[in-house]
Amino acid sequence: MNKLQFAYYRGFQAVFNIGARCLHWRRPIPVSGEGAVGKIPELLKQEAVDKVLVVTGPTVGKKLAPGILRELDQAGIAYVLFTEVEANPSVNTVNRIQRLYLDSGCQGFIAVGGGSPMDAAKAAAARVVRPKTPVGKMAGLLKVGRKIPPYIAVPTTAGTGSETTIAAVITDSETHHKYALMDLHLVPKYAVLDPEMTRELPPKITATTGMDALTHAVEAYLCWTYNTKESIRLAEEAVCGIFKYLERAYRDGNDMQARTEMLIASYKAGFAFTRAGVGNVHAIAHTLGGLYNTPHGLANAVILPIVLEDYGAAAEKKLARLAELTGVKTDGTEAEKAKAFIGEIRAMNRRMEIPTGFAFIQEKDIPQMIAWALDEANPVYPVPVVYDEKRCEQVIRRIIREA
Ligand SMILES: [Fe+2]
Repeated sequence: MNKLQFAYYRGFQAVFNIGARCLHWRRPIPVSGEGAVGKIPELLKQEAVDKVLVVTGPTVGKKLAPGILRELDQAGIAYVLFTEVEANPSVNTVNRIQRLYLDSGCQGFIAVGGGSPMDAAKAAAARVVRPKTPVGKMAGLLKVGRKIPPYIAVPTTAGTGSETTIAAVITDSETHHKYALMDLHLVPKYAVLDPEMTRELPPKITATTGMDALTHAVEAYLCWTYNTKESIRLAEEAVCGIFKYLERAYRDGNDMQARTEMLIASYKAGFAFTRAGVGNVHAIAHTLGGLYNTPHGLANAVILPIVLEDYGAAAEKKLARLAELTGVKTDGTEAEKAKAFIGEIRAMNRRMEIPTGFAFIQEKDIPQMIAWALDEANPVYPVPVVYDEKRCEQVIRRIIREA
């Protein structure tokens, strides 16, 4: 890496850190516990919402949304339902949601699902308050700049953390480029954490979404500058919670304690990364979502241990601390503890039948992946090791080789 470029990135992050500490980091109000969705009508009434747009995907639209719609019916709250959010939601979908919202005279959003419906609804809400600005023009930091309508997030995975974050990840319909809108106004007003919403989540999705939450917590924890005492604590608690409960939820979806703890861990990890950022794992994972529609959690699960190993000594101290806190390894050198922590992530992946690499990545796509990943990560993400083209390529080739 060119020294001047490196100095610019670190300088940007240091200045951004000063600016970030002056911002008001609003948090979603959590409403948690079994049956928490029953409180949604009350929340809407508090926000003076008489008509709401419920945004979700086709499966959740059939299985879980009806329970929420019944609550709305009973409370006499009108609604419009949109159930066509796809995995890796596109700009076209966002624009359709925005038009439906405006045409039907809705006053608020309920997003039900994993990251995709929550992100699509966030971007649509941004379009509602910025009708003349295309989605792509709001990509990056603090480009929304206006308060969005009342927004209730109901996660059905644990998770993306989208219920707590400033981010909405959208894919360009033509170029397949995946990018993030990041603005404090995109933090939902409420996060309804109801374990019943995750009860029937298949083991495979429980595993990959849980590893996404782990990636949020670990990448936020490794951040060199934006962290606060609170984001550090929440990241540590999230990692411990995920190590303890993810595989329980994976093995027995009806384990409501594990489901509840995973929702809480995901919420904490979401808050940690909203404050402290993510890193190179996410930057590379997003390129796979855009190019190959790879589920986000799966991409992160595979890439996380590879990038952590690549960081080497730069991440050892913090990973050693996580090894101690989780009880993975409490004696030995920092390097040994960090190695054991990464080894345990690989073991979790193995036990949950997550692959070790991706052979489907095509040679011709590698330059595009590198360009997108570096464009996303630099200079904003406060990563322990700043990647240049060469190092990013080495990591991508390892992802292919380890398949
Ligand atoms: Fe993520």
